[in-house]
Parts: sequence; structure tokens; C-alpha cells
Amino acid sequence: MLHEVQNKQDQKSTNYVEPVYARKDFGSGLPKFELGEEGLNADAAYDLVHDELMLDGNARLNLATFVTTWMEPQAEKLMSESFDKNLIDKDEYPAATRIEERCINIISKLYNAPETGIGASGIGSSEAVMLAGMALKWRWKQRMEDAGKSTAKPNLILGSNVQVVWEKFCRYWEVEPRYINMAPGRYTINGEEVMKQVDENTIGVVAILGVTYTGAYEPVKEVHDALMAHKEKTGQEVPLHVDAASGGFIAPFLQPDLEWDFRLPLVKSINVSGHKYGLVYPGIGWVVWRSKEDLPDDLIFHVNYLGGDFPTFTLNFSRPANQVIAQYYNFVRLGRKGYTDVQRNSQQVAMYLSGKIAEMDDFELLSDGSDTPVFAFRSVDETALSVYDVSDRLREKGWLVPAYTMPEDVQDMSVLRIVVREGLSHDLAEALIEDLVWAVEKCKAGQQVQGKTSDANAETVGKLKC
Ligand SMILES: Cc1ncc(COP(=O)(O)O)c(C=O)c1O
Repeated sequence: MLHEVQNKQDQKSTNYVEPVYARKDFGSGLPKFELGEEGLNADAAYDLVHDELMLDGNARLNLATFVTTWMEPQAEKLMSESFDKNLIDKDEYPAATRIEERCINIISKLYNAPETGIGASGIGSSEAVMLAGMALKWRWKQRMEDAGKSTAKPNLILGSNVQVVWEKFCRYWEVEPRYINMAPGRYTINGEEVMKQVDENTIGVVAILGVTYTGAYEPVKEVHDALMAHKEKTGQEVPLHVDAASGGFIAPFLQPDLEWDFRLPLVKSINVSGHKYGLVYPGIGWVVWRSKEDLPDDLIFHVNYLGGDFPTFTLNFSRPANQVIAQYYNFVRLGRKGYTDVQRNSQQVAMYLSGKIAEMDDFELLSDGSDTPVFAFRSVDETALSVYDVSDRLREKGWLVPAYTMPEDVQDMSVLRIVVREGLSHDLAEALIEDLVWAVEKCKAGQQVQGKTSDANAETVGKLKC
């Protein structure tokens, strides 16, 4: 009898308009951590997953991430048309392969490479960094073997401000990281500090174009010139890699005269995230080398089991072609002028925001958004106004502005960081400033309440936030 009723309901639900949230699929819980015995119908599965994702933050108000959160509908259309193409399957998808090659050429020309088209795409800068780091290590090993020397102790020189991917690289590929610690007021490496660490086991030096913590550029040319002077004096050539994850799609457009790329002879490789200021949804990253000589042949594998003979230099094998296609769409759609306009706009918004924040008595800027459109600021008195509390308060208004500690030797300093991307309009920036002023007032009021309560009930005080 019960079955009959159920069957009738099933028939009814296919014949009549059914109120979505009254349908039987939502009537009972689904196992979350094991595969259910039976599936749902496609619409119900869609609604279920879609609704759960509503609990995620609003990507456009996420000022923590460098990663693109808006693309044009035409780009989205192209991406959805090419989800099903496996980029590695170069025989089946020669057009996607050609597009990837064009992108590599465009990027290496953008960076003034003497030999263009030597590069690879990956899932992000992290994969690109691994490939570049391996090339440095292999080339150093070859040099040492040729000279009959030990290859037991390679080291890499980098700032303690590097993104975690470099720590991973050093650990996974057994390279000693020689960190240059930061100092109050100096949040980048410099030529002098680099040269203190160089020896014959140095596989290379990393300089960052757009430090993750502050958005500021490291002085690539200064580091380069120190390495060049060392080369002239000793004959040892130490290659320089530029981690341009965020600045690689800013500097060529906003600071075209800044020498940071292959114009400097010791810059041997550069990585950039297409999904940051390359303006593509995640995940796409690129690595390009100065010349063939800088990418050892041993690292390139040839596969023929997909038909044809194709060289591959990636960590991942299968990957959708759609991000590469979206990158190419942006190149075609925007051109140099379009990229310049978009990035300039972001920079103007960043500098408007940092200017307003600099006017507030409570904060001090560590950077102002004039390199990449990213800046960091700290509370002038962390005991009176905690940046963590300000970050929490801003979340109540929907803004995600992260608070975090700075790297080694300045780790007792906590900062807030704002990443301005395409999509953060001037109007939204004005709203953000209003909310920041509100957050500061709330935090300070909270501090006063804390102060008052402390006499009465010390235990409550510890738990109070702003
Ligand atoms: C300087 C730097 N390098 C590398 C990375 C890693 O990039 P991806 O997220 O593209 O893997 C980041 C990410 O923020 C970064 O800021």
C-alpha cells in the first residue's frame, strides 16, 4: 500500500510542476562521507550541491586572494565548450596545442626573451616553480659533474618572504634553502644579502616580482647586478629565477621600463600565474626560459601513446585545456592596451584605498599598491587595535581581508592585506573604506568595554573580542 502511494507520487512529480524543496529527494539525509546506494535525479543533485556552495564566501568580496574571480561571459562560454578537452592529448586536440604554444610565445616575448617559445603551462605558479627549480638544479648538477665536483649539497638562495611553494620545492627536491631573513623596514631581499650566501653549490637565486606578503617588487636588477659583478670577478655564473606569479602580468603593462625580465642576462627563467593578473579563472600558470640551453633535455619526456610524438615537461599529465584557451581569449580580446587599462584601473583603486588608509591614525602602510595593486598595512598599536579583530569585523560586512604575521625575523608584526583585482570598482572601494572605519570604531568600542569589564570580571575579559 505504501509503495502504491509512493509510485503515484513519482508519476505525479514527472507530470506536474513540483515545488523544488518539497520533493522526495530532499526528504531524507544523504550519506556525506560514503557513496550512497542510489543516486538522485540530475536536477535534485544540482540543487543540492549548488545550495551547499552558497555557504562559500562571495568571491568578488574576497580581497585575500590573488586569483581571478570574474571573467567575461564569452570567456566562460569558451571555457565550458572546452572542459572536455584533455590538454595533454596533443594529437587529438592540435588546435588547443597550437593555442598553448602561442601563449608561451606571447609570454616569452612579453618578457623580452632572446629565444621565444621555450616554456610550459601548468596548473598554477606552484607547478611552474617546481619545473623552473628542477631546471636550475639539473643545470647546476651538470656544471658540477663537468668540473668533476660533488653534487651532494645543492642550495638555493631566497628570501624568508617566499611563498610556501619554494619551501616545498626545496624539501621535495632535496635542495638546501638559504633564507635571507627580513628586517624591520626591509621586507625584500637585496644584492648585498644575496651575495653573503652564494657559494659553488648555489643552483640559483629567487627574486619575487610581487611579494605575497606586501605586493611589493623585490629589487631584481640590483640582485642581478650583484650576481653579474660576482661573475666578472670569479667566473661563476649564478642564474636568477624571477617568481613573477603576480607581477608578471602587471610590470610589462604598468612599469614597462622596469628591468626585471630577460633584458637582464642572468635572468634564466620566469614563472607567472595566468589565474592571477593574467585574468583567467584558476588554475593556469606559466614558466618560460631564456633559451633552450636553460632547459635541460633530460627533463623533457617524449610520449607517443596518445598518437604522434610529443615532448612533455609537466608534473601533471591530464588537464583540461579550457584555462589555456581562456588565457588566449584574454590575449586576443585585451591586447596590450586592454591589459594596461585593466591593470591601471586596479592600481588606481589600490592606491585610492591605501591613500585613505594612510590618512587614518590607526594604521601604517607597509606598501601602497604602486607595484602590484596589492598592499599591506598594520595597526600602529596592536594592543589597542588588533588587525585580527579588524579582519573579523570586516567579515561581518562580507569582506575577506586577511590578517597574518610577517615572515621570519619580523614575525611579531601582524598585517592586513588587500588584493585589488578586476571587479573591485571604485564604488566598492568607497564602501570598503566606510566599513573599515566602522570596523575600527567597533573594535575600539570593544576595547573600552574590555577595559571597563576587566575590573569587574577578569575571566570575561580574556574572551572578549572587539
Ligand atoms: C610569489 C608567489 N609565488 C608563487 C605562488 C603560487 O602560485 P599559484 O597559486 O599560482 O600556484 C604565489 C601565490 O600566491 C605567490 O604569491
